[in-house]
Order: sequence, then C-alpha cells, then structure tokens
Amino acid sequence: MLDAAGPSLRASLERRYARCGARLLQTLDELYGDQPQFGAWLTTLCRELGTLAGTRPEPLRAMDCRREDAPGWFIDAKLVGYCAYVDRFGGDLCGVTSRIGYLKELGVGYLHLLPFLRARNGDSDGGFAVADFDQVDPALGTMDDLEALTGALREAGISLCADLVLNHVADEHPWARAALRGDPEYRAFFHLFPDRSLPDRYEQSLGQVFPQAAPGNFSHVPALDGWVWTTFYPFQWDLNYANPAVFAAIATTLLRLANRGVEVFRLDSAPYLWKRLGTSCTNQPEVHLILRALRAIVDLVAPAVLLKAEAIVPAAELAPYFGEDAGRGHECHLAYDSGRMAAGWASLAEGTATLLRRQYDTAPDVPEHSGWMSYVRCHDDIVWSVLRPDVEATGGDFRTRIGEAAARLEGRRPGSFGHGMPFQTADGADLHGTNGMTAALVGLLPPEGAAVDAAAMRRFSLVYGLAFFSGAIPLIYMGDELAQPNNDAAADSARLVLDGRWLQRPWFDSCRAARRLADESTATFQSWASLARLVAARRHPAFDPHAMPKSIGPDHPTLLTLGRGEQLVAVFNLGSNEETFDWRSLQATDGWTTLLDTTGAPPTDRAGAVRLPPWSMSWRVRT
Ligand code: GLC
Repeated sequence: MLDAAGPSLRASLERRYARCGARLLQTLDELYGDQPQFGAWLTTLCRELGTLAGTRPEPLRAMDCRREDAPGWFIDAKLVGYCAYVDRFGGDLCGVTSRIGYLKELGVGYLHLLPFLRARNGDSDGGFAVADFDQVDPALGTMDDLEALTGALREAGISLCADLVLNHVADEHPWARAALRGDPEYRAFFHLFPDRSLPDRYEQSLGQVFPQAAPGNFSHVPALDGWVWTTFYPFQWDLNYANPAVFAAIATTLLRLANRGVEVFRLDSAPYLWKRLGTSCTNQPEVHLILRALRAIVDLVAPAVLLKAEAIVPAAELAPYFGEDAGRGHECHLAYDSGRMAAGWASLAEGTATLLRRQYDTAPDVPEHSGWMSYVRCHDDIVWSVLRPDVEATGGDFRTRIGEAAARLEGRRPGSFGHGMPFQTADGADLHGTNGMTAALVGLLPPEGAAVDAAAMRRFSLVYGLAFFSGAIPLIYMGDELAQPNNDAAADSARLVLDGRWLQRPWFDSCRAARRLADESTATFQSWASLARLVAARRHPAFDPHAMPKSIGPDHPTLLTLGRGEQLVAVFNLGSNEETFDWRSLQATDGWTTLLDTTGAPPTDRAGAVRLPPWSMSWRVRT
C-alpha cells in the first residue's frame, strides 16, 4: 500500500494505519479469511487502496488532515442538510452549482443529491439501478462537472453527500452483462439459482419491499437460465458480498467517488447486504463486518469522508450501524432517524404524544463522533414497520393503530387534515407506507390567493421543529422550504402509476422560490420563515449538538417535553386541543428565555404558564 501511495503520503498513512490497520485486517479476515486466495486478494486490495490514496487530490488531502484532528467536525459545525434530485432541483450538475447561493441563504451546509450516476435505460428506480459507477448520467453532466460542483460546494462550506448503491446493480451494469454472457467470474457477483428450490426456502422468512409492484425477492432471467436475487425491482440484482471480489469492487468505487470530492456516502439499503437462510436476510452480523471494513478503509485513505447508514429498521436494530466499540463508533458516522420520523407523523395523526415520547425514552445512545440525521420527509414513503416495537410496547394492535394514523394522514377519515396517499397497500386493511410532501401531509395547501390556515402552518413548523430539535444534522427535503404540494406534474403521471413515491418528488418550483419573500401571507413565505427560525435556533450557543435529546418532565397525553443538554428545553403540543403548560414543572423560568415559539402568545405571558394552541411549540434557553 505504501509503495503504491508514494513517498509523500508515507508518514500520514503509517500514522493512520497504526489507528485502523488492525481493525481493517481483522474484519476482512473474519469475512473472507477462509477463502482460498485470501492472501493474494488482500495484497491486491491494499495496492489498490494505496493507489487511490496516492491519487487523492491535494485539497481533499488537506481536508483529511483537518478532519482527522477534529473527528466530530460535522456535529460541531451544526450543519443543516438539504436533499434533492439533480434534475428536479437544478436541471443538471451545473444547474445545481448555480443554486449554491440559494442553499447558503437557507443555511445549508450539507447537500444530499439523489443518485446521479448513469442508471439503466427506462425505469431505474429513480436512479437507484446504477449501470456505471464511474460515469455521471449523461443528461446530468460529466465527471468533470461533478468535480467542479464538489469544488464549488466545498468553497461555499457545503459537503456533498451521494448515494453509494451498494446492495445491487442494474441488470445493465457491466457485471450483470458479463454474468448474462455466462462469465463465471461475474456470475459469482450475484446470487443465482438454477431453480426455485432454494428461493422458495428463503422466501419463507423474507419480507417484501414492494409487495405490490415487485412481489417476491427473486426474478427469473431466461438468459441466466435461472433465478437471480432481486430484493427491490427485478432490474436491481443484489450483489453477493460473500464473494470478496464484490467487496473490493465496491470499496474502490467508493474511494474513486471520494476522490472526485464526494464527502458523505449514503449507504443505500445497507441492512440487506448479507443473506442467511431462515432469517429475514437483513441486519445480519456480516453486514456490520462489511460496514466496519468500509469504515476502516475510509479512515485509512480518505478520513475526511463520512458514512451514513440508510437502514430503515426499528431503533434497536439501527443502533448497531454506528458500530459500538469502546465508546468509539467504527461503522457509520450517521444514520437516518427513521423511527422518530415515523413516530412524529403517527403522533401528529393520533393527536397524542405517546409514540414519540417512547422513541425519546428508548433512543439508544450513539458512540462519540456519531449522530442522527433527523428528517421529516424524503424521496421514499414513510415506512411504518419501524414503529412495530413501539406500538407493541405501548398497547394496541400495530395494523389497527398505525393503519388508523396512516388513514388520517391520507385523508381517508372524515375531517382529517392529511392529503397523503397509501404506498404498496392493496386496500384499506393493508399497511405498508404513506407518501406525500410535508405540506400535503399537514394540510398546508391553501388554494391560490387564499389565506394560510394558521393551524396547518403550526403543524408544518411542529414536524420540522421536532427534527431540528433532535438530530446531529436535520434535513430539509427539497420543496418543503417553499411549502410545495404533492407532485402533480403531468409529465410524471405515468411514473406515479408505477411507483407512488413520485408523489413526493416534485420539480423545484422556481416561481415560488423567486417570490418566497414577496408576500407574508403566503404558505411559501411562512414555511421559508419557519425554517429560517429553526436554522437560527440551532445556531444559538445554548444549542448543544452533541447532547442527546431526552424526554423530560411530566407524562402528558398530548404534550411532549424535551430537553437537550443543560440549557435547552422545549414543549410540543401534538394534540388538536389547546393546552396549558407551566415552565415551572421543568424549572425553566428564572434565568430562562424564549428561543423559538409558535404559540402566538405575547412574550410577557411566556414566563410561567403558557397557553399552547393545537400543534404549537415553544423552546426555551438558559440565559
Ligand atoms: C433505498 C432508496 C429507495 C430505493 C431502494 C432500492 O431504500 O431510498 O428509493 O428504492 O433503496 O435501491
């Protein structure tokens, strides 16, 4: 490795190797040590790592050095995230560059661009069926454009996050094409079966991600003369990580993209990387070995880079994705807080604080220098299964209770405010996911020219308020800052029929964006202003991004009281009735002052008891 990296890197590589070399070797040995050519494979991998270290551009090397000395930099920086599709937000990569000013104005320091690498032709699951990891989708630009964008973002203090779709590749990826030609080396990249006997046995314990659109986990491919494992769509072939060549190919792919300036990798569908008969084939111990090995490689070659787990699983199964190891996280730096996200929506729909409070009460601690990505919406549906343990613990049948909450968010109950849609749900009795933009789900959809419903605006602020209060990095989903409604673009109607998640994938409304500050009475102005207040609140010195948010104070049916560190407390009213809350119950009166408030009460009234209209919140800091 040292030889391949070149003399200028020797000292720093040796230093880093002392820290993470043993971790890397031990993990790879556990995964692949019993393979016949393990030694030769390891030597080749290390040489490739050295070459990639040696070709890492100078500005990125400098960033590596800075961040090595401050491993909690992304938490200290109080970053606010933004997530968008390249084409929908900026047209192409160059167009995204031209929106950097907009992002800066919003206070963004982290930008997740959904998949932009060359995907298969036709349906590509929104780009998640990658056909080439080394080429940008030609409609979006080139690798040079990517480097130009990452450079411009870096200069603006924004870290770029990209998806590393590591569980599967498109059926048009060269590895799949080689397998289709019968090349044994590449057939071994996938899970192939000559007949249904093993697939049928696996199916007995497997779940389904798209039970309606893509039932089952295996697809018959005549050219393969058999079946291939396809957890998601039939055109996304799961990679076989029991084959060390797959691990090496993905690890080096990650580093090549890192050398183009990608700073954060969203490890797509991470739980699915390892298969074991008789299990759900998710969250297997080997998944954690794979992530641990990837993390050690990043720590060694590109320590400025962060790994983020996309693991939409209940909180107890999610915590291991940080990789606990003597208090240090040795897997992902970040993970989506999908439990609190789903619980926020369910609690809002139920009008009670129970599920959400349980999430805070039982949230696992995260290792040092790791944190949660907190969010309200993303390009996927709200996956309800993550709440199963919470419902089982707090009472009620999961399908009945969450089915009812989903029905309300989907406007299927008289008087409910939500305008979402069920996802992969055959009829009202089934329960899978719910789609919709934030504005639609909270009922913030005033007709053109109509006044904004103040209660709906409070619901909008409340769900974002919970995310901004809670995570290491809160995420704004593109369009929410402008209260964009569900996607009703005529050009997307055919896509929507095939995959309802396009409901929350609108085109960026540049007219709204241009008018965002023009008229205080509009939902666009008010949602932008609401997020601006939340961004400012996080920047307050009393906001400690390293402290875990905790549920404190009285157990109230609709009020959730949270504390974060020693100097910040908040009360959120999840219910549809006005409540009175007394700050004295939290000892937060003398020496405390209001940081953020949507109660509408005059400041003088906020000293002791406070009136909390439905869906309002109030945050206080110690002064
Ligand atoms: C992730 C993505 C989702 C995609 C799936 C398969 O869950 O967020 O959009 O369909 O992976 O790649």
